[in-house]
Amino acid sequence: MDKQQITDDKTQQNKEKRKTRRRRFRLVILVLFVLSLPGYYCGLTVRNYEVRDARIQGSIRIALVTDLHSCKYGEDQRKLLRAIEEQKPDVILLGGDVIDDVLPTGPAEAFLSGISGKYPIYYVTGNHECWSGKENYLSSMKIIEKYEIKRLAGDCDIVSVNGTTIAIGGIDDPYAAMVESVIWSKELSDVKKEVQEKASADTFAVLLSHRPEAIEAYAKQGFDLVLAGHAHGGQWRIPGLINGMFAPDQGLFPKYAGGRYEKDGTTMIVSRGLARESTILPRFYNPPELVIIDLVGEGK
Ligand SMILES: [Fe+2]
Repeated sequence: MDKQQITDDKTQQNKEKRKTRRRRFRLVILVLFVLSLPGYYCGLTVRNYEVRDARIQGSIRIALVTDLHSCKYGEDQRKLLRAIEEQKPDVILLGGDVIDDVLPTGPAEAFLSGISGKYPIYYVTGNHECWSGKENYLSSMKIIEKYEIKRLAGDCDIVSVNGTTIAIGGIDDPYAAMVESVIWSKELSDVKKEVQEKASADTFAVLLSHRPEAIEAYAKQGFDLVLAGHAHGGQWRIPGLINGMFAPDQGLFPKYAGGRYEKDGTTMIVSRGLARESTILPRFYNPPELVIIDLVGEGK
């Protein structure tokens, strides 16, 4: 074999090696793509939590609905309404951004109309309802009123379910101050004051607030349970590794993107919300969720 022949053979071998490497690389990309497909699943899921407290006599089931952003769950919201009905909640809490500032209000109204009159329902504002401009904001509040949903804005209501009395307080989103003259921090302390006035100091106190990032302020007021949304689960998740990539007002790798948190005796549950077609980026390993919280007594 002459020198030229040897060189040609080596060149040919190198070409084959490069081709094989490229094929393997493409295969790895394809496998990763196929493996990531279930991550884009965006169907409605139900996530359950249990909160134990000695003051709860019978159990109380709360359905927490946040960040619907006027997204559609079937014709006339049938899928979402059916999911709620199946869970048989004692009370429904709407944690803000039910109505969107960009998408039409029709689907949100279909949802509110579907739950109206069937459960005790409480609502707090979210930032997107406030961002829609004063006129739209006021008409959104009229929609809430029209379906006999009680808006909590720095106050609380006492609710008795299955032999247990609990207080449900709520505060506006801070952006409500843009359209109405309210001072958020004053409202927060007022809610706790009202709980003490309307019930007693040791009544199990729930706070409904759109935003989870103010957990320290909520814990300082001594609420037993805080229910929030707003973070949309941090949009992208890698279960077991990263609980959210980004959330408004928390930035990258948000601490309170979704799940259960404890702070100085206060439990906070953050819903990953129901926003779907309203978001620019698709959700990844972060399906929209209806959150169900069971309040139960110790040892039950
Ligand atoms: Fe929000």
